[in-house]
Amino acid sequence: MGLRTFVFVVVLLGFVLSFLEFCNGGITSSFVRSVNYSLDMPLDADVFRVPPGYNAPQQVHITQGDHVGKGVIITWITPDEPGSSTVIYWAENSDLKNYATGTVLKYKYFDYTSGYIHHCTITDLEFDTKYYYEIGTGNATRHFQFVTPPEVGPDVPYTFGLIGDLGQTYDSNRTLTHYELNPTKGHTVLFVGDLSYADDYPFHDNNRWDTWERFIERNAAYQPWIWTAGNHEIDFAPALGEPIPFKPFSYRFHVPYRASGSTSPFWYSIKRASAYVIVMSSYSAFGKYTPQYKWLKNEFPKVNRTETPWLIIIMHCPMYNSYVHHFMEGETMRVMYEKWFVEYKVDAVFAGHVHAYERSERVSNIRYNIVNGLCMPISDQSAPVYITIGDGGNLEGLATSMTEPQPSYSAFREASFGHGILDIKNRTHAYFGWHRNQDGYAVEADSLWLLNRFWKQSERASS
Ligand SMILES: [Fe+2]
Repeated sequence: MGLRTFVFVVVLLGFVLSFLEFCNGGITSSFVRSVNYSLDMPLDADVFRVPPGYNAPQQVHITQGDHVGKGVIITWITPDEPGSSTVIYWAENSDLKNYATGTVLKYKYFDYTSGYIHHCTITDLEFDTKYYYEIGTGNATRHFQFVTPPEVGPDVPYTFGLIGDLGQTYDSNRTLTHYELNPTKGHTVLFVGDLSYADDYPFHDNNRWDTWERFIERNAAYQPWIWTAGNHEIDFAPALGEPIPFKPFSYRFHVPYRASGSTSPFWYSIKRASAYVIVMSSYSAFGKYTPQYKWLKNEFPKVNRTETPWLIIIMHCPMYNSYVHHFMEGETMRVMYEKWFVEYKVDAVFAGHVHAYERSERVSNIRYNIVNGLCMPISDQSAPVYITIGDGGNLEGLATSMTEPQPSYSAFREASFGHGILDIKNRTHAYFGWHRNQDGYAVEADSLWLLNRFWKQSERASS
């Protein structure tokens, strides 16, 4: 072999190897699953049952009501008349009953008129305390309880559930049941958007918002669900005379956005135990100088990792997604914000939208500057892990079609319905597990030890 041929072979080999390195991603699970479309549960399904009694409060759910976890927003709907907006609540081991009164709202959407939507914020609760609460009157009075989080601090263990794109099918019910029966008990759900899928019905049938909120009550009345707006919350239907985006969602779900200096309920932050959770809106303006951009620019420097070591972002549309469905839809947001995620060492970004599960490697793609041509994701230990958990089980079915070969940024992907658990142990370690609905309640189909980006550097995966 001549020198020139030898050089040519070496260059060719190098080219092939570098191509293989880029394309040779992680694991595409071969798990066999049904790809039939999921059916919504019928209107008379037991999970949609209306509680007994005249004007009984229904669709009860809670979310965090302030920035640090000492407040709770309690929401419910009375169907027949406004009734009482007062919540009576008391701490376990205390006889002192407290009263708080909220507001009542009502909206129309095309030919639908909502019930009376009550939002009541209770504040100045004790940390790490079980509270009972009572809503409604007479024989339609209903009782629930919740536990406030521990005081914010760097080594406080806390467990979040992760659910997205839930809908109200038989699979949705399985997902919620698996979350409830998971032996690692979640204390709070980080919900990554796309709630009821009412907009998939003719005229965006808002009765399906009511059924959905009755369905989730069994969990969401007892632990906070942190809300993210997805595309199915937009409900933009000018042909129906409904040109205001997010109308039903805005009436039905209140969040503590003002507590974090936000001007919109679609982007905000909370602290909870050892976590700082930033909620972003994929469907609100996020370009430079927009309100969301300005808020985020001020928000990242506020995060004190010696107080809340875990910096978590939730949004609806994933920035890294190797499924064919919604491929590169998150690209504009990635271009805008990935730099900050790396600069501020975000630990994990959870998204939904794609009806499947995927976990990324720690990668970034922030070198590109239009003249240097550097546009490939590279390994980056300051980057977050991106997890798509849009596999709640809605009526649109699974996203089964994947880009091939699996790109290098994708560590594990599988098109099955399920939920995630983020189990924070202390300031350095958190364990993430993904549970598919077909397995037993304790089985994890994918898992990862997350080492905190501020306090630790290397980590290992097990699948
Ligand atoms: Fe979506």
